[in-house]
Amino acid sequence: MKKTILVTGGAGYIGAHTVAELIAQNYDVVIVDNLSVCDETLLLGIELLTKTKPSFYPIDCNDYKSLQNVFKLHNIDAVIHFAAFKAVGESTQKPLVYHYNNVGSLITLLRVMEEFNVKDFIFSSSCTVYGQPDTIPVTEDAPIKKAESPYGATKQICEQIIKDVTSQNVKAISLRYFNPIGAHPSAELGELPIGTPNNLVPFITQTAAGVRQQLTVFGTDYPTRDGSCIRDYIHVVDLAKAHVAALAYLLEQSSSTFLDIFNVGTGEGKTVLEVIEAFERANQITLTYTKGPRRPGDVIQVYADTTYISKKLNWKPEYTLEDALQHAWQWEKKIRKR
Ligand code: UFG
Repeated sequence: MKKTILVTGGAGYIGAHTVAELIAQNYDVVIVDNLSVCDETLLLGIELLTKTKPSFYPIDCNDYKSLQNVFKLHNIDAVIHFAAFKAVGESTQKPLVYHYNNVGSLITLLRVMEEFNVKDFIFSSSCTVYGQPDTIPVTEDAPIKKAESPYGATKQICEQIIKDVTSQNVKAISLRYFNPIGAHPSAELGELPIGTPNNLVPFITQTAAGVRQQLTVFGTDYPTRDGSCIRDYIHVVDLAKAHVAALAYLLEQSSSTFLDIFNVGTGEGKTVLEVIEAFERANQITLTYTKGPRRPGDVIQVYADTTYISKKLNWKPEYTLEDALQHAWQWEKKIRKR
């Protein structure tokens, strides 16, 4: 029998890619998204790509009654919770908004799950919970340090809440993403940043498209191989597939109080300058960029130790950095045509 998965934030970037992979693996999907930071573009993309139209409810995960209705209408087997605000800089300006939205919605969702006896839960976490780790590549048991931003704090608090509820009849997996980039190879799904992008890859593609005049590399005097920061860039489709692998594993677990945490990255650190070069190489485009000052709050380098996820979930990324940058560029060209 087909399992029904509730995906909160399913109209967003990572959520929509995961919905497409879930449908490909024969799950029924129900999407909840309040469309506060996106529109219905990716829902349409899911439909075009999968030839399936999942049930969609434009509701807020802080709205207990509306969530209850969704659980009444569908026999939910498991929940993947993406819905959250994610702009690190904005979170320093609006900490209360971030805590209310990210922590509040998690608590509301877990309460509704409890009411309807739904026990399987996957949480969208972030490598931001590590802060600047002492040892790199970072493993899942690295100490959780002081969060660099209210956004990071919400992810730490949410993980703590999940830990508390999994001691009481809930099974959960927390996936700590590194830097998700790229788009679906079909160019039906991709990232749709609102306003000026904060993140590197959308800024690169918008510069290549002529929407931004020039890219600035934030800091070239870091103690790294070329002076720019190092991150672990993971293709969004690989990340989506990690959710499907995690879900299959979670559903197999018989213990009623199960909790596991996985890094999801490639295990390889790339500098900002290397990403720019890879984009130029992959797409035969020369980018205009300048070397600027450091961006406050940036960690110097972080990349994942992926031993645990590859052993336990048998998951490995399939796409290269060049693939991700090619797909991101295909997507950018497509949305510019619109
Ligand atoms: N960068 C530039 N120029 C830009 C944009 C970014 O040089 O125009 C640099 C940044 O300084 C950083 C690197 O590119 O060195 C990556 O920056 P991103 O903003 O793309 O990503 P972050 O690593 O800052 O943040 C990402 C996610 C967060 C998540 C965090 C975890 O956006 O949601 O990883 O570390 F919390």
